[in-house]
Amino acid sequence: MPAEEMNLWYRDAIFYEVHVKSFYDSNNDGTGDFEGLRQKLDYLKTLGVDCIWLLPFYKSPLKDDGYDISDFYSIQPEYGTMEDFQRFLDDAHSIGIRVIADLVLNHVSDQIEWFKEARRDRNSPKRSWFVWSDTDQKYSQARVIFIDSEISNWTWEPVTRQYYWHRFYSSQPDLNYDNPEVREEMKNVMRFWLKKGLDGFRCDAVPYLFEREGTDCENLPETHAYFKDLRKMLDLEFPGTILLAEANQWPTQAKEYFGNEDEFHMCFNFPLMPRIFIALARQSALPIVEIINQTLPIPATCDWGIFLRNHDELTLEMVTDEERDIMYSEYAKIPKMRLNLGIRRRLAPLVDNDRATLELLYALLLSIPGSPILYYGDELGMGDNIYLGDRNGVRTPMQWSYDRNAGFSRADTEQLYSPVITNPNFHYESFNVESESRISSSLLNWVKKMLRTRKKYNTIFGRGNIEFVTHENKKALCYVRKYEGGQILCVFNMSKKHTYVELDLKQYKGYRPVEVITETRFPFIGDLPYFFTLPPHGFFWLRLVAPNEEDGIQDD
Ligand code: NOJ
Ligand code: CA
Repeated sequence: MPAEEMNLWYRDAIFYEVHVKSFYDSNNDGTGDFEGLRQKLDYLKTLGVDCIWLLPFYKSPLKDDGYDISDFYSIQPEYGTMEDFQRFLDDAHSIGIRVIADLVLNHVSDQIEWFKEARRDRNSPKRSWFVWSDTDQKYSQARVIFIDSEISNWTWEPVTRQYYWHRFYSSQPDLNYDNPEVREEMKNVMRFWLKKGLDGFRCDAVPYLFEREGTDCENLPETHAYFKDLRKMLDLEFPGTILLAEANQWPTQAKEYFGNEDEFHMCFNFPLMPRIFIALARQSALPIVEIINQTLPIPATCDWGIFLRNHDELTLEMVTDEERDIMYSEYAKIPKMRLNLGIRRRLAPLVDNDRATLELLYALLLSIPGSPILYYGDELGMGDNIYLGDRNGVRTPMQWSYDRNAGFSRADTEQLYSPVITNPNFHYESFNVESESRISSSLLNWVKKMLRTRKKYNTIFGRGNIEFVTHENKKALCYVRKYEGGQILCVFNMSKKHTYVELDLKQYKGYRPVEVITETRFPFIGDLPYFFTLPPHGFFWLRLVAPNEEDGIQDD
């Protein structure tokens, strides 16, 4: 395979997001570690994961669960040593799994030496690595992001008597990207980890690097220019590695991070994610159709990262007030389920653990253009705990078995970094890898089967374009994914009731639809509209087999 083609691996990959501390505790101290993650690589391989995304594992006082880094060149001691990290990475590579890591460029911990020096003395060489002001009135158009805990983006530093700038917690001072030393240092951080063999970075909080008066300090041209510079460095020094942008923005601004194929390889599809849930709540396909039309096309070698949930609250910053109200009333009936402008729940609890809805959501995740990103535990239908603070309720230990501590650790239960899920509706004794592996109808086995199916048709789902099929029923979402002569028709019922839809498939006259999960032949497409009946939240994925093509099904 030519190098350029090999380097597009991310377009066909299934990503899996995981926190080292949450996955598996190998030394029984109550916190997961790199050695534990290494021991569980086979699980991820069997599940069908191609690339692991590691949440921040660098040294940190953990005020923001590691997004507050106090040393970019070392590992949080509980998670293991540099050798453990290397062994994990090498073993992942040896079984064909790539690894990308979170990279927090925008801000640091106030415990990092750079900030300690800077805050002590106005003349410190590190002073200009941060953003200072005599007043808290500068950049007043920049919104506060953590609205439940911060009232301003400025915090007073009493010793040197100035305010410092921070877009997140006040314990996370922003770096000053106008300073070339900062820009260079962060490149060195990247080089340090890429040299160890990492396959790229999930870049945190990318819109906020630069500040300019009179703007909202997001998505500034200077910020784009810096990422283009980082991309150049990657292409030159570490070909085949990728940058994935966390830019929670409206579609137009989010798309800009692809640049002209010279910025990010991938961006999370933040515009799409909440609209999938809005579509479900409204029982209408329209929110999904509209947002896909707004977020495509994108440059040829770029891709969206599609996700349903992640380690944060389900963010509702970039939706209308009306859409936010719909989301809260459908999915966050109890105030504790909300955080900032979002909903802090896992996937299965969000949909009351309704199996048909979960299957529909996964079928969307795996067939909408982009690379799917799973959040650890959601393949089991893991529950959450809204009574834990911040976003900790969706970061509880992975559930391996019905043993003590869900098989995550043999530490004393009180010693775990977080309690395991024991709510009767989601108890770890039922929702765990071992139990679910034993029963063929479990969600885990179903997700595995879906990932296998997606992989079988990877070029169509990973590379293909999308064409919506027009019809009269707004509850039905219908599109064809197409790539070099292969095509899969996807039909979804977004409603809670049975429904039917008549599709104009004239252009495929003489083709035979074949259901791809169970490999079942459907009637040939003729002159009449093609008719589907769908159960509540039902769906079909159907290969459209051309008249002169073998359908490859073994007759039974
Ligand atoms: C986005 C991360 O996903 C979130 O967990 C973190 O708190 C903020 N960025 C600040 O780094
Ligand atoms: Ca441990």
